[in-house]
Amino acid sequence: MASVGGFDEAVRDFLRVPTNAHIKNLASVYIANELAPIPLAAQLMGANPELMAAMAQEIESRGAHRIDLNCGCPSNTVTGKGAGSSLLQVPEFLHQIAKAMVKAVSIPVTIKMRSGYEDISLFKENLLAAQESGAHYITLHPRTKVDGYTPPARWDLIAEAKKILRIPLVGNGDILTVEDALKMLAMTHCDALMIGRGSIINPFIFHQIRAHFSKKPFRAEWQDLLNYFEVFLADVPPEVPVKVRISKLKQLMGFLFKGNARLLEKRQEILTAQPVDVQSYLDFALPLLKQGWVF
Ligand SMILES: Cc1cc2nc3c(=O)[nH]c(=O)nc-3n(C[C@H](O)[C@H](O)[C@H](O)COP(=O)(O)O)c2cc1C
Repeated sequence: MASVGGFDEAVRDFLRVPTNAHIKNLASVYIANELAPIPLAAQLMGANPELMAAMAQEIESRGAHRIDLNCGCPSNTVTGKGAGSSLLQVPEFLHQIAKAMVKAVSIPVTIKMRSGYEDISLFKENLLAAQESGAHYITLHPRTKVDGYTPPARWDLIAEAKKILRIPLVGNGDILTVEDALKMLAMTHCDALMIGRGSIINPFIFHQIRAHFSKKPFRAEWQDLLNYFEVFLADVPPEVPVKVRISKLKQLMGFLFKGNARLLEKRQEILTAQPVDVQSYLDFALPLLKQGWVF
């Protein structure tokens, strides 16, 4: 039986470090061994170099193997406070924050960035500012803040970044299949891949990519997908109200039903259903998923 996994490491969603941050309280949501044996990095988002450095130290003391700096979040709430993708507007500031974090810890600091804020006019400057800060590698999601998630991600910019940088580069954006992964590697020569939404649409994508390179066959079965739901639901704390539990499950189903044209046809139906509890939603959605899923 196959389990979800197959990736080398994962990164926790961003931890905001606001100006009134109580470092220890905020950091307590990060649990380094949550996915053990797979390492889980922490990601920090903020715009105050001293606080970001202090938080980086706190996260290191909690066992992180790597800390990532968020220079990509497009949310206006975040950018209004000068954090996330806002840092791409002033490369010197990006450099200052990243350097403060690098100096504060002994573990690798890495940077996740978009290609720019409004446009890509500071693309090269931002890459170099990130590199010169002492960051170990950069992950590039090649869309600007203004692009949001509008397709396509500009893989040509990953290829360009690879030529500019001497530190490793991780390519990210719109990898939905093994073929996409191979295409990005061939087109950009990036050093590694990061997959976000594609891994929710197809939780077995990492195993499938590995199977391609190892030439060992990989096969998932329906039971594997059922196990995936079990793990997902077990991860939602018991105090979470049923309504919220259902909405989380709907969100997951929304991704899974993007997997192919047959599932896409049913997506609206599973998103607009009004179940009374989790079990009745599963009883409704799982048979539809089973009919359309291709292993
Ligand atoms: C719901 C959602 C949450 C995200 N949260 C984060 C985050 O916390 N930190 C981050 O760097 N990127 C975050 N991203 C962006 C992804 O890491 C990734 O760069 C983007 O989705 C493009 O890659 P993909 O096409 O493989 O999904 C998020 C994206 C989505 C859709």
